[in-house]
Amino acid sequence: METTKKRLVVLTGAGMSAESGISTFRDSNGLWENYRVEDVATPEGFARNPEMVLDFYNQRRRELQHAQPNAGHIGLAELEAKYDVRIITQNVDNLHERAGSTHVIHLHGELMKYCSVANLEKAYDIDPAHLDMHLGDLAPDGKQQRPFIVWFGEAVPMIEPAIREVEACDIFVIIGTSLNVYPAAGLLNYVRRGQPIYLIDPKEVQTYRGDVEQLMCGASEGVRRLKEILA
Ligand code: OAD
Repeated sequence: METTKKRLVVLTGAGMSAESGISTFRDSNGLWENYRVEDVATPEGFARNPEMVLDFYNQRRRELQHAQPNAGHIGLAELEAKYDVRIITQNVDNLHERAGSTHVIHLHGELMKYCSVANLEKAYDIDPAHLDMHLGDLAPDGKQQRPFIVWFGEAVPMIEPAIREVEACDIFVIIGTSLNVYPAAGLLNYVRRGQPIYLIDPKEVQTYRGDVEQLMCGASEGVRRLKEILA
Protein backbone atom coordinates (compact mmCIF):
# COMPACT_ATOMS: atom_id res chain seq x y z
CA MET A 1 0.00 0.00 0.00
CA GLU A 2 1.23 3.48 -0.90
CA THR A 3 1.76 5.66 2.19
CA THR A 4 1.25 9.41 1.88
CA LYS A 5 4.54 11.22 1.70
CA LYS A 6 5.23 14.01 4.17
CA ARG A 7 5.19 17.47 2.63
CA LEU A 8 8.60 19.14 2.67
CA VAL A 9 8.40 22.81 1.69
CA VAL A 10 11.67 24.58 0.86
CA LEU A 11 12.07 28.36 0.53
CA THR A 12 15.21 29.21 -1.42
CA GLY A 13 17.11 32.41 -2.17
CA ALA A 14 20.21 33.50 -4.02
CA GLY A 15 22.54 31.51 -1.72
CA MET A 16 21.01 28.30 -3.14
CA SER A 17 22.64 29.05 -6.49
CA ALA A 18 25.87 30.65 -5.17
CA GLU A 19 27.82 27.40 -5.55
CA SER A 20 26.66 27.31 -9.19
CA GLY A 21 28.52 30.59 -9.74
CA ILE A 22 25.48 32.90 -9.66
CA SER A 23 25.94 36.11 -7.69
CA THR A 24 23.89 36.75 -4.57
CA PHE A 25 22.47 40.24 -3.92
CA ARG A 26 23.50 41.39 -0.46
CA ASP A 27 26.79 39.56 0.24
CA SER A 28 30.03 41.48 -0.25
CA ASN A 29 30.50 41.89 -4.01
CA GLY A 30 26.82 40.93 -4.42
CA LEU A 31 24.78 42.41 -7.27
CA TRP A 32 23.39 45.25 -5.13
CA GLU A 33 26.92 46.44 -4.42
CA ASN A 34 27.53 46.93 -8.14
CA TYR A 35 24.08 48.06 -9.31
CA ARG A 36 21.39 50.26 -7.78
CA VAL A 37 18.16 48.36 -7.08
CA GLU A 38 16.11 51.38 -8.17
CA ASP A 39 17.93 51.46 -11.54
CA VAL A 40 17.58 47.81 -12.58
CA ALA A 41 14.82 46.27 -10.45
CA THR A 42 11.95 48.77 -10.44
CA PRO A 43 9.35 49.77 -13.07
CA GLU A 44 10.57 53.38 -12.69
CA GLY A 45 14.14 52.33 -13.54
CA PHE A 46 12.85 50.53 -16.64
CA ALA A 47 10.85 53.61 -17.71
CA ARG A 48 13.96 55.84 -17.27
CA ASN A 49 16.51 53.64 -18.99
CA PRO A 50 15.02 50.52 -20.57
CA GLU A 51 18.20 49.61 -22.51
CA MET A 52 20.25 49.47 -19.32
CA VAL A 53 17.65 47.28 -17.59
CA LEU A 54 17.34 44.92 -20.58
CA ASP A 55 21.12 44.68 -20.69
CA PHE A 56 21.31 43.85 -16.96
CA TYR A 57 18.94 40.89 -17.46
CA ASN A 58 20.66 39.89 -20.73
CA GLN A 59 23.85 39.54 -18.67
CA ARG A 60 22.05 37.51 -15.98
CA ARG A 61 20.67 35.20 -18.70
CA ARG A 62 24.13 34.67 -20.22
CA GLU A 63 25.53 33.94 -16.74
CA LEU A 64 22.77 31.35 -16.25
CA GLN A 65 23.59 29.62 -19.55
CA HIS A 66 27.04 28.78 -18.14
CA ALA A 67 25.76 27.64 -14.73
CA GLN A 68 24.89 24.11 -13.68
CA PRO A 69 22.73 22.92 -10.77
CA ASN A 70 24.90 22.24 -7.71
CA ALA A 71 24.75 19.31 -5.28
CA GLY A 72 22.20 21.23 -3.18
CA HIS A 73 19.72 21.55 -6.08
CA ILE A 74 20.29 17.90 -6.98
CA GLY A 75 19.87 16.75 -3.36
CA LEU A 76 16.50 18.55 -3.11
CA ALA A 77 15.34 16.87 -6.32
CA GLU A 78 16.43 13.49 -4.94
CA LEU A 79 14.37 14.07 -1.78
CA GLU A 80 11.25 13.70 -3.96
CA ALA A 81 11.77 9.92 -3.69
CA LYS A 82 10.79 10.06 -0.01
CA TYR A 83 8.98 13.39 0.42
CA ASP A 84 6.36 15.47 -1.35
CA VAL A 85 8.81 18.30 -1.99
CA ARG A 86 7.52 21.76 -2.89
CA ILE A 87 10.11 24.41 -3.74
CA ILE A 88 9.26 28.08 -3.34
CA THR A 89 12.09 30.09 -4.79
CA GLN A 90 12.93 33.78 -4.91
CA ASN A 91 15.46 32.90 -7.60
CA VAL A 92 14.80 33.70 -11.22
CA ASP A 93 17.18 31.02 -12.49
CA ASN A 94 15.96 27.58 -13.62
CA LEU A 95 18.46 25.46 -11.68
CA HIS A 96 15.86 23.71 -9.50
CA GLU A 97 13.99 22.55 -12.60
CA ARG A 98 17.21 21.53 -14.35
CA ALA A 99 18.17 19.48 -11.27
CA GLY A 100 14.88 17.59 -11.57
CA SER A 101 12.57 19.24 -9.01
CA THR A 102 9.01 18.94 -10.29
CA HIS A 103 7.10 21.41 -8.07
CA VAL A 104 8.69 24.85 -8.21
CA ILE A 105 6.95 28.15 -7.48
CA HIS A 106 8.89 31.22 -8.66
CA LEU A 107 7.93 34.18 -6.48
CA HIS A 108 10.05 36.76 -8.35
CA GLY A 109 9.61 35.58 -11.93
CA GLU A 110 11.83 33.65 -14.33
CA LEU A 111 14.86 34.79 -16.30
CA MET A 112 14.14 32.48 -19.22
CA LYS A 113 10.69 34.01 -19.79
CA TYR A 114 9.44 37.36 -21.04
CA CYS A 115 6.14 39.18 -20.90
CA SER A 116 4.58 42.22 -22.51
CA VAL A 117 4.80 45.62 -20.84
CA ALA A 118 0.99 45.65 -21.11
CA ASN A 119 0.42 42.29 -19.35
CA LEU A 120 2.77 41.19 -16.58
CA GLU A 121 0.87 37.96 -15.84
CA LYS A 122 1.27 36.12 -19.16
CA ALA A 123 4.76 34.72 -19.67
CA TYR A 124 6.39 33.36 -22.82
CA ASP A 125 9.52 31.20 -23.09
CA ILE A 126 12.73 32.83 -24.27
CA ASP A 127 14.40 30.88 -27.06
CA PRO A 128 17.83 29.78 -25.70
CA ALA A 129 19.25 30.48 -29.19
CA HIS A 130 18.21 34.17 -28.84
CA LEU A 131 19.01 35.03 -25.25
CA ASP A 132 19.21 38.80 -25.53
CA MET A 133 16.18 41.10 -25.36
CA HIS A 134 16.32 44.53 -27.04
CA LEU A 135 14.18 47.62 -27.37
CA GLY A 136 11.83 46.99 -30.30
CA ASP A 137 11.42 43.25 -29.57
CA LEU A 138 7.67 42.80 -29.41
CA ALA A 139 5.43 40.41 -27.47
CA PRO A 140 2.53 38.67 -29.31
CA ASP A 141 0.23 41.59 -28.35
CA GLY A 142 2.45 43.98 -30.33
CA LYS A 143 3.83 45.69 -27.22
CA GLN A 144 7.46 45.88 -26.05
CA GLN A 145 8.82 42.74 -24.40
CA ARG A 146 10.18 42.97 -20.87
CA PRO A 147 11.82 40.45 -18.55
CA PHE A 148 9.30 38.29 -16.64
CA ILE A 149 10.69 39.51 -13.34
CA VAL A 150 8.78 40.87 -10.36
CA TRP A 151 10.37 44.24 -9.67
CA PHE A 152 10.26 46.13 -6.39
CA GLY A 153 6.91 47.88 -6.06
CA GLU A 154 5.11 45.29 -8.22
CA ALA A 155 2.56 42.70 -7.10
CA VAL A 156 3.76 39.19 -6.24
CA PRO A 157 0.92 37.03 -7.60
CA MET A 158 2.56 33.71 -6.65
CA ILE A 159 2.60 34.57 -2.94
CA GLU A 160 -0.93 33.17 -2.45
CA PRO A 161 -0.17 29.63 -3.71
CA ALA A 162 3.12 29.81 -1.77
CA ILE A 163 1.28 30.62 1.48
CA ARG A 164 -1.02 27.63 0.94
CA GLU A 165 2.01 25.35 0.51
CA VAL A 166 3.63 26.65 3.69
CA GLU A 167 0.43 26.28 5.73
CA ALA A 168 0.21 22.63 4.61
CA CYS A 169 3.86 21.70 5.24
CA ASP A 170 5.08 18.99 7.61
CA ILE A 171 8.70 20.18 7.47
CA PHE A 172 9.92 23.64 6.39
CA VAL A 173 13.42 24.39 5.12
CA ILE A 174 14.96 27.76 4.27
CA ILE A 175 18.12 27.85 2.15
CA GLY A 176 20.33 30.81 1.19
CA THR A 177 18.14 33.83 1.75
CA SER A 178 18.84 36.84 3.94
CA LEU A 179 15.05 37.14 4.53
CA ASN A 180 15.23 40.84 3.73
CA VAL A 181 12.56 40.97 1.06
CA TYR A 182 8.82 40.75 1.70
CA PRO A 183 6.38 39.14 1.17
CA ALA A 184 8.74 36.15 0.69
CA ALA A 185 10.36 36.57 4.12
CA GLY A 186 6.93 36.56 5.79
CA LEU A 187 6.23 32.99 4.60
CA LEU A 188 7.97 31.74 7.72
CA ASN A 189 5.06 33.09 9.79
CA TYR A 190 2.69 30.60 8.13
CA VAL A 191 4.52 27.49 9.38
CA ARG A 192 2.33 25.87 12.03
CA ARG A 193 3.85 25.64 15.53
CA GLY A 194 5.38 22.24 16.15
CA GLN A 195 6.51 21.65 12.56
CA PRO A 196 10.31 21.33 12.30
CA ILE A 197 12.05 24.28 10.60
CA TYR A 198 15.64 24.10 9.31
CA LEU A 199 17.64 27.03 7.96
CA ILE A 200 20.74 26.45 5.83
CA ASP A 201 23.07 29.43 5.46
CA PRO A 202 26.77 29.98 6.18
CA LYS A 203 25.87 33.24 7.97
CA GLU A 204 23.51 33.71 10.88
CA VAL A 205 20.06 34.81 9.67
CA GLN A 206 17.64 36.59 12.02
CA THR A 207 14.20 34.94 11.94
CA TYR A 208 12.33 36.20 15.02
CA ARG A 209 11.18 32.62 15.75
CA GLY A 210 12.67 30.49 18.47
CA ASP A 211 11.96 27.19 16.75
CA VAL A 212 14.36 27.39 13.80
CA GLU A 213 17.36 25.06 13.69
CA GLN A 214 20.16 26.66 11.68
CA LEU A 215 22.72 24.56 9.84
CA MET A 216 25.61 26.99 9.42
CA CYS A 217 26.99 25.88 6.07
CA GLY A 218 26.58 26.27 2.34
CA ALA A 219 23.67 24.84 0.36
CA SER A 220 25.34 21.61 -0.85
CA GLU A 221 26.68 20.65 2.55
CA GLY A 222 23.43 21.76 4.20
CA VAL A 223 21.21 19.61 1.97
CA ARG A 224 23.54 16.65 2.59
CA ARG A 225 23.18 17.17 6.37
CA LEU A 226 19.43 17.70 6.04
CA LYS A 227 19.10 14.32 4.32
CA GLU A 228 20.94 12.71 7.23
CA ILE A 229 18.67 14.42 9.75
CA LEU A 230 15.53 13.36 7.88
CA ALA A 231 16.69 9.76 7.27
P1 OAD B 1 20.51 37.83 -0.54
O1 OAD B 1 21.71 38.17 -1.36
O2 OAD B 1 19.84 38.89 0.21
O3 OAD B 1 20.91 36.69 0.53
C1 OAD B 1 21.68 35.60 0.13
C2 OAD B 1 21.87 34.69 1.32
O4 OAD B 1 22.57 33.53 0.87
C3 OAD B 1 22.69 35.29 2.48
O5 OAD B 1 22.03 35.02 3.72
C4 OAD B 1 24.02 34.55 2.38
O6 OAD B 1 24.64 34.36 3.66
C5 OAD B 1 23.58 33.21 1.82
N1 OAD B 1 24.62 32.44 1.13
C6 OAD B 1 25.75 32.88 0.52
N2 OAD B 1 26.44 31.83 0.01
C7 OAD B 1 25.71 30.72 0.29
C8 OAD B 1 25.87 29.32 0.02
N3 OAD B 1 26.93 28.84 -0.66
N4 OAD B 1 24.93 28.46 0.45
C9 OAD B 1 23.84 28.92 1.14
N5 OAD B 1 23.65 30.21 1.43
C10 OAD B 1 24.56 31.10 1.00
O7 OAD B 1 19.50 37.07 -1.53
P2 OAD B 1 17.93 36.78 -1.35
O8 OAD B 1 17.56 36.65 0.07
O9 OAD B 1 17.61 35.67 -2.28
O10 OAD B 1 14.73 40.08 -5.86
O11 OAD B 1 17.31 38.10 -1.94
C11 OAD B 1 15.92 38.23 -2.03
C12 OAD B 1 15.54 39.08 -3.25
O12 OAD B 1 16.23 40.32 -3.21
C13 OAD B 1 15.94 38.47 -4.56
O13 OAD B 1 14.99 37.53 -5.07
C14 OAD B 1 16.04 39.66 -5.46
C15 OAD B 1 16.73 40.62 -4.53
O14 OAD B 1 16.54 41.94 -4.75
C16 OAD B 1 14.56 40.81 -6.98
O15 OAD B 1 15.48 41.21 -7.66
C17 OAD B 1 13.14 41.10 -7.33
